[in-house]
Amino acid sequence: MNHEFSANVRGRTENGVLVVTIDNPPVNAASAAVRAGLYAAFAHAEAASDVDAVVLTGAGKIFVGGADITEFGKVPADPSLPEVVARIEGSTKPVVAALNGAALGGGLEIALACHYRLGAKTAIVAFPEVKLGIVPGAGGTQRLPRLTPLDQAVELIATGRSLKAEAAKTAGIIDALAEGDVLSQAIEIAIRGDRNLFRKSSEQPVITAPGEAIEAAATKILAKSRGQKAPAEAVRLVRATQDTDFAAGLADERKTFVALRDSAEAAALRHVFFAERAAAKIEGLENVTARPVSTIGVVGTGLMGSGIAVAALDAGYRVIGIEQTDEAAQRGLERIVGMLDKNFKSGRITEQGLADRLSRLTVRGSLGEIAAADLVIEAVFDDLAVKTNLFRALDDIVRPDAILATNTSYLDPDVIAAATRYPERVVGLHFFSPANIMRLVEVVRCAKTAPEVLASGFAVARKFGKLPIISGVTEGFIGNRIFSAYRREAEFLIEDGAEPREIDAAMEAYGLAMGPFAVFDLAGLEIAWARRKRQAASRDPSARYVDIADRLCEAGRFGQKSGSGWYNYEAGKRVPAPEVSAMIAEARAAKGIVTRSIGADEIVARLLGAMADGGRKLLDEKIAARASDIDLVMINGYGFPAHKGGPMYAAEIQG
Ligand code: 3HC
Repeated sequence: MNHEFSANVRGRTENGVLVVTIDNPPVNAASAAVRAGLYAAFAHAEAASDVDAVVLTGAGKIFVGGADITEFGKVPADPSLPEVVARIEGSTKPVVAALNGAALGGGLEIALACHYRLGAKTAIVAFPEVKLGIVPGAGGTQRLPRLTPLDQAVELIATGRSLKAEAAKTAGIIDALAEGDVLSQAIEIAIRGDRNLFRKSSEQPVITAPGEAIEAAATKILAKSRGQKAPAEAVRLVRATQDTDFAAGLADERKTFVALRDSAEAAALRHVFFAERAAAKIEGLENVTARPVSTIGVVGTGLMGSGIAVAALDAGYRVIGIEQTDEAAQRGLERIVGMLDKNFKSGRITEQGLADRLSRLTVRGSLGEIAAADLVIEAVFDDLAVKTNLFRALDDIVRPDAILATNTSYLDPDVIAAATRYPERVVGLHFFSPANIMRLVEVVRCAKTAPEVLASGFAVARKFGKLPIISGVTEGFIGNRIFSAYRREAEFLIEDGAEPREIDAAMEAYGLAMGPFAVFDLAGLEIAWARRKRQAASRDPSARYVDIADRLCEAGRFGQKSGSGWYNYEAGKRVPAPEVSAMIAEARAAKGIVTRSIGADEIVARLLGAMADGGRKLLDEKIAARASDIDLVMINGYGFPAHKGGPMYAAEIQG
């Protein structure tokens, strides 16, 4: 017999088993209609004499993708997720979850309320709530440590890390893995399964772990959380299960969840979540198919090129690295192999994974070897003549339909494209170093880039596991343009009276991993110095120009690598440099500037303001497609704290 429990939940009773299917595309989020349907389904199961057991599953590839995030911030509709979860676990008839795919957040809480969990091989479990600035709010923090040891539960909930089916089974979160079709096997278990295996997780004792292991997990998480509230609350709630009963823990969890859900931090992280989805939508590419790419040529195997090569190998591509000589190719090969080896030794890839990657890699000392590439990414020295010569030469080597991508940071990719016979096949792929780690890639639409070439740039970057953001052509693209505005304002602040350490401390307290001057020192001061010297002739003499960085470079202070820059470095640690303070005082005096003390709030407001102004210009010039894209660039490429939503969002919130 078929039932419609709500618009998104249906049921079918057969042989005493009610199969309840959640069908709420695209991710089966636990919306109001899903919750109402589930509640009705379990009320029906309880009352119906032809139902002996229930199987709960999701339609499509996902079990349940969590609470419906679009409902946060609106008036909550009944029944709440905790009520639904309580209803499921309280069922007097056995409930088997058939995890057909990802069970995330509230979706995992629904699964944990079932009396038995059977996972498909493609199932994934996670509590990603902390990434949204919240904690699980429907029993996750209380049920998980009753299925998996407490230190692991702390780590999983406070980091949001996901587990694939096999690992979830080992952790005790999934009871068994299906051999074939998960649903038919779950029905079989519901009919004939050993009733002793069915458990209510809330009634299980907490699985304790050694105090040191819990402490170690907590310390590691808190050190990384950079002032965010959710991870600390997650740790607290899971730890409390050792001393509190289930009902009290549940009440505490709900109260904490509601407070966090309504916090500024969670609103900012929701903005980031939706910003990432919006960034995937590119005007003009709605119906465009990317070209197939299986072999990637990487020209230049220095720091950037080898990082790109590793990212491409990780993503399953065949890679041809190119250098100018056989000796350089040998060094490039060693660099790439060294990076892969490090990933193997740290356990990030398996021995088989390492061997597989190596089998897909060649590095050669002549450009001719790149003929087979479907996509060429150049990562050679950032010099216009070098890049235009390379692209001109590539024209005669690769197929006419092969895509050519430039990784330039500051040069004009339209000029590089114009050096080729087919400028429509040229696109910018601006990676951030280290390219195998950093998530951001600016995908640059040049004047003549063909739509399917642009779509291919996006497709490849996504397959790399990156976050591609569209940018128009401008010097430095989105990120470096904003970073320049930020640098300029930071230098104004110095002239006006703030010390580098005060500015860095203010921005680090705000949530940046590193303040601006620590970043300048890390990146090295000489490249910006060389640029300033190049631009000196064309600079507007009436515009404010701060020459303190020039003075530093003239004194041989090029940043961390040279042992000193804005700071001095002692055993790798930065310490304020009195000689820099003296140089700053001299520069101020030379301009007759009367300094004043500048508080942390003003520092943050001025630097955010400079970034947001820079961002507004990029929108006006149509370089950036959306304000939220700018936020993502700064979060993923420049260490802006995600829990502040990005500079555009933060500036808007602060009015
Ligand atoms: N609520 C509402 N909408 C959601 C959603 C959710 N939980 N998850 C995804 N969506 C939307 C996206 O915004 C997107 O919408 P769009 O097409 O209009 O842009 C659409 O679903 C498809 O999403 P993706 O593009 O991300 O699809 P993928 O297939 O790449 O990924 C996913 C699917 C892995 C489920 C991914 O969407 C995801 O990670 N979602 C968020 C999961 C999550 O954080 N869940 C926890 C929610 S909080 C919670 O459960 C609280 C509870 O403890 C009380």
